[in-house]
Amino acid sequence: MDPTGANEVSIAYKVFTFEDNSAECLSVSVPEVLDPQYGMYVWPCAVVLAQFLWSHREELKDHTVLELGAGVSLPGVLAARCGAKVLLSDSARTPLCLENCRRSCDANRLRDVVVLGLTWGEVSPDLVLLPKLDIILGSDVFYEPRDFEDVLVTVAFLLRKNPRAQFWTTYQERSADWSIEPLLCRWNMNCVDIQLESFGADKSELAGSTLPGSHSVHMMIITLNTRDLD
Ligand SMILES: C[S@@+](CC[C@H](N)C(=O)[O-])C[C@H]1O[C@@H](n2cnc3c(N)ncnc32)[C@H](O)[C@@H]1O
Repeated sequence: MDPTGANEVSIAYKVFTFEDNSAECLSVSVPEVLDPQYGMYVWPCAVVLAQFLWSHREELKDHTVLELGAGVSLPGVLAARCGAKVLLSDSARTPLCLENCRRSCDANRLRDVVVLGLTWGEVSPDLVLLPKLDIILGSDVFYEPRDFEDVLVTVAFLLRKNPRAQFWTTYQERSADWSIEPLLCRWNMNCVDIQLESFGADKSELAGSTLPGSHSVHMMIITLNTRDLD
C-alpha cells in the first residue's frame, strides 16, 4: 500500500447479466474507476453492443476480435467469455485506461486477452503487426466529431488488411447535425443499421442495468464496399 495514498484508486465493480429465452445466462463484472477520463466508465453504447455480441455468441467462438477505444471493455470481455480470441485497445496516451482494460480481464479471469495502446488515426507497430481479424468492435467511439475521421481511418486500414472483417459499432445520438456518412463514402465503406429490437436491445433496462435508459443508441455494421473485395 502507498502510505501517501497517491496511487490509490477508487474502484467499483459493476455486474451485467446477459440472458435469453433459454436457461443460458452470463454475468460479466467490470471495474469503473473514479477518474475524469471517459474510458473509466461503462457507457450506454457498451451495454447495447455487448447485448448484440451476446445474441451472436455462437459466431464469436474461435473468431479474432479487436475492440477499439475499449475503456472499461464490457463488449470485448463478453466476447472473450463467449470464446473469442480478444485484443483490447485504447489510446496509447491513456495508460490508466489501458491498466483498467487489464483490470477488466483480471475480474473475469481472462488470461489470454491482449491489451494494446492503439491511437485512432495513427500508424504504429502494434497496429501494423495485429493478427488476422474477424470482427472489430467500437462502442461509443463516435462521440467527438473532430475524432470521427481518425476512427474511420483506423477502421479502413484494418478492413483493407482484413477485407472479410466487419466493424460492429454502437453510436449514441448526441446531435442531429453529426453524421459519419460523408466519411464512410470518402473511405469507401458501407454501413448497415441494425434495429435494436432484432437483438432484444430496444429496452431502457438491459443486462440488469438501467444505463441504456432513454438514450438514443444505434447499432451499425460497417464493411468495405464490396467492389473492394476480390
Ligand atoms: C465514450 S468512451 C467509451 C468507452 C467504452 N468503449 C464504452 O462504451 O464504455 C470513449 C473511449 O475512446 C477512447 N479514446 C478517446 N480518444 C481516443 C483515441 N484518439 N484513440 C483511441 N482511443 C481513444 C477513450 O479513452 C475511451 O475509452
